[in-house]
Amino acid sequence: MSLSRTPQTPADVRAFYDAHRTVRQYVTAPDGSPIPLPDDHLDAVLHAAQRAPTDATAQLYSLVRITRPELRARLVELTTNAHIATASEAFVVCADVHRVSRVLEVTGRQPGEWPAIAVHFGLGDAVMAGTNLLTAAEMLGYQGCWIGGVMNGLDGIITALALPAGVLPFAALTIGRSAEDTPYRPRVPRPLVIHTDAYHVATDQELRGAVEIMNPIAARGGQPGDWARLLNAYFGTGGSMGTREPVLRAALARQGLAAPGSAGT
Ligand SMILES: Cc1cc2nc3c(=O)[nH]c(=O)nc-3n(C[C@H](O)[C@H](O)[C@H](O)COP(=O)(O)O)c2cc1C
Repeated sequence: MSLSRTPQTPADVRAFYDAHRTVRQYVTAPDGSPIPLPDDHLDAVLHAAQRAPTDATAQLYSLVRITRPELRARLVELTTNAHIATASEAFVVCADVHRVSRVLEVTGRQPGEWPAIAVHFGLGDAVMAGTNLLTAAEMLGYQGCWIGGVMNGLDGIITALALPAGVLPFAALTIGRSAEDTPYRPRVPRPLVIHTDAYHVATDQELRGAVEIMNPIAARGGQPGDWARLLNAYFGTGGSMGTREPVLRAALARQGLAAPGSAGT
């Protein structure tokens, strides 16, 4: 297989990533049902997912493709993200150490005890596969949306998808043709996320500047945005991440991924 690729210019690369938008409204059939990807497009994005690099050669992830309308509807309910029903494709992207354990068993070996490592490498592999899939979809002219809302209904999702022990949903991922006019969403200034040789602890001033830059991402219905307020709703005292914490701990315990003496045990 050829290794040659026509190099893109830096401007091409920037333009490709600047065209990224999270999109939640998709082109559908007139009755509102999803328009599936053509087979060759679906095959290409799944191929991209599987070409992701993987730690220890293990491919510690699984993607569950959601096709049945009633299952899509159930996931809408469990994740509170309506666009799972209308996207051309919807996946639940999971960390998966079940398969590697089974490979060891069927070849006459015994899986070791490493639940924290499972979460670390499983989520890493899952994210890399999902990111490849989304980028490939964007190369084909689609847009998509990661859905961390799986955390709202983790237990129900594990049941609905019959996930065995060792498999943990990370997020859902939808893709389709955009039916919305989506704004370009800002990012914090580069020095806050790209460090050279040692971690740079941001100053108060730098952080206030970042908030100013990020404020538009929280704008709704013509009202100016307040990014710190949005972050507070997620990560502040009484925020939604605090509500998700016990849900994740319970799922880790249910899936056999809680390290002794830590989460869920
Ligand atoms: C792991 C992850 C989980 C996300 N969860 C949700 C979600 O549950 N619902 C949603 O509408 N968007 C979700 N998003 C999309 C983000 O809101 C979006 O990426 C962010 O606002 C930046 O916008 P952009 O991707 O258009 O640049 C998620 C993104 C990621 C990476």
